[in-house]
Amino acid sequence: MTVPAKVKREVISLREQIKHHNRLYYSLDAPEIPDADYDALLIRLEELEKEYDLVISDSPTQRVGGAPLSQFAEVTHEIPMLSLAKVFSEKDLRDFETRIKKRLGSEEELVYSCEPKVDGIAVSLLYVDGLLNRAATRGDGVIGEDITHNVKTIRSIPLKLSQKKSRSRLEIRGEIFLSKPGFESINKKALNEGSKIFVNPRNTAAGAVRQLDSKATAKIPLEMYCYSVGIVEGINLPRRLSAIFEELAELGLPVNPERKTANGIDGCIDYCMSLLSKRGDLVYEIDGAVIKVDDLITQQALGQNTKSPRWAMAYKFPAEEKSTKILDVGFQVGRTGTITPVARLDPVFVGGVTVSKTTLHNMDEIERLGLRIGDTVVVRRAGDVIPKVIKVLNQGENKNREKVKLPNNCPACGSPIEKDGEVLYRCSTRFICPAQQKESIKHFSSRTAMDIEGLGSKLVDQLVDEGLISNVADIYLLTTQQLSQLERMGMKSAQNLVDMIEKSKDTTLLRFLFALGIREVGDATALALVNHFGDIDPIAKATSEELEEVEDIGPIVAEHISAFFENKDNLSLIEKLKKVGIKWPTVDVGASERPLEGQTFVLTGTLETMSRSNAKTKLSGLGAKVVGSVSQNTNFVVAAPGAGSKLTKAEDLGVKIMNEEEFLFFLDDLS
Ligand code: IVH
Repeated sequence: MTVPAKVKREVISLREQIKHHNRLYYSLDAPEIPDADYDALLIRLEELEKEYDLVISDSPTQRVGGAPLSQFAEVTHEIPMLSLAKVFSEKDLRDFETRIKKRLGSEEELVYSCEPKVDGIAVSLLYVDGLLNRAATRGDGVIGEDITHNVKTIRSIPLKLSQKKSRSRLEIRGEIFLSKPGFESINKKALNEGSKIFVNPRNTAAGAVRQLDSKATAKIPLEMYCYSVGIVEGINLPRRLSAIFEELAELGLPVNPERKTANGIDGCIDYCMSLLSKRGDLVYEIDGAVIKVDDLITQQALGQNTKSPRWAMAYKFPAEEKSTKILDVGFQVGRTGTITPVARLDPVFVGGVTVSKTTLHNMDEIERLGLRIGDTVVVRRAGDVIPKVIKVLNQGENKNREKVKLPNNCPACGSPIEKDGEVLYRCSTRFICPAQQKESIKHFSSRTAMDIEGLGSKLVDQLVDEGLISNVADIYLLTTQQLSQLERMGMKSAQNLVDMIEKSKDTTLLRFLFALGIREVGDATALALVNHFGDIDPIAKATSEELEEVEDIGPIVAEHISAFFENKDNLSLIEKLKKVGIKWPTVDVGASERPLEGQTFVLTGTLETMSRSNAKTKLSGLGAKVVGSVSQNTNFVVAAPGAGSKLTKAEDLGVKIMNEEEFLFFLDDLS
């Protein structure tokens, strides 16, 4: 097709204008034209490219998203994407420097590159001959997912570098994030459209980069800052990280303007403190600072641990605190009938999420805080921890503030409330209370319990409210017909759910025992019981004394277990569950060997495939001792993602280290 010169000129000019406005908007945060004018330029360019077949891979129109994918392709990182060890105090930062100086055998002052630890999602961008060729998530550090289609929608990421070097490959690593204003604007839109509200910027960004449909990603105004390079071929980069950042900026890549070099660890500590004081003013969420040895040759000399480089450290900020108002206090009924006071708060953004309600634990806690309705309180939230009211600010003022009163009757079923022990209150009935019914069914179907996929919290509420189920055995009597009549449930989803319910019947004793929801029996205690007794009947028949023979089971837990199995309703429920076909293999406890007798283990980081208590019980079941700190006497350290100083210490002491996969193989070999 011949393209008129006029059209060619217009297309070139439109591309330049759009790129210019992108830069003003995203890199300099200083837009010159309204959004609508910008959109008009983009629409015109799209029309011309389509009409005259002029689409090129780095045209700004390629950022609007293409046809949805059916699945993500895997990407193997040629150079693994490491994570960072983290510290929480000034002292730990000083120890970090002492350690690296010792390793280097030099007292010479070190220069560091200091950067904000942006709270987003790591990404690897591969530029081949200056063109964005592939973008991938970090995944497990070795294998990630191809998210090129989504990353192309991020306007601050250039599709083409400003200097194209032929036969070059340059891999940029950085953090994709959603700014606070970006988050607010999409939530405002969601509110207007009546669609789902996003919880926090990080989760929204994480969800957006993992969309199969890039048109959905394009609706989220994601951004990125580079923090390091991976593959560098056919290009010369300086030998200092700080200078590399300058070079990346020259190439048109976004680098964080808050980055700074610092002399010695004192300089780094000053940086961390000054960044902390600025935290609230930054337009994006950060959860700490990252300090890195600036000189790449020194970095190389220091090398890396299994998961993280020795030349870098994340300094995590302390928990964030904000003040807000207590609007009201309600009462929630738990799985075993405990009545918990829950505060409704004037929504406040703290530690990365908007908090609008939080547990006050029990009436004593309310007393201790001196909390009354209408009070202004301080709420603290760190990491993924549940937000907590830590103090009342207006204590002592106006004695007429409304007191929090414990109701006399259960808010869910109206039965009288009873005191249970020192601080707890409980609904006095068990099987008829709808709140307890709902909570115990939710617990039963949860992932660590019977793992009934699709039977989520909302659906359980709906099923109980409609009178279709009232206990866990009823789940197994549900029919496709019944389910398909529920609101928002088609025949196909109903069939899927019935299939998943059926699938859950083939289970393990551990899952089943845990799923029963016996008071104080979490997955670790359940495992200890399984390893000791091997099947449900011996557990049910055991006396409190016999139960106390199990490791880590004390008199209180033993009492709860025997009380549970003395209750006729519970026994008949178990019978019903067995009758509908729930089955598990018995565990051979007679032949129980203790192959790890005399071996000491330390677990560090967060295991992805099992809970820490589960791992601990498994190890102790095999005879090993699991302790909290690494020493000369430690035989093995199991280092899961997020492992920190224990891992470093293990490496220094030459203790054998296993990652999660190796640990699972190790356990498999023993059983
Ligand atoms: S450096 C080899 N710098 O934090 C070092 N990471 O656990 C690799 N992050 O996966 C990371 N801001 O997603 C580095 N300025 C920064 C960062 C940063 C955020 C994230 C990154 C990484 C995680 C570390």
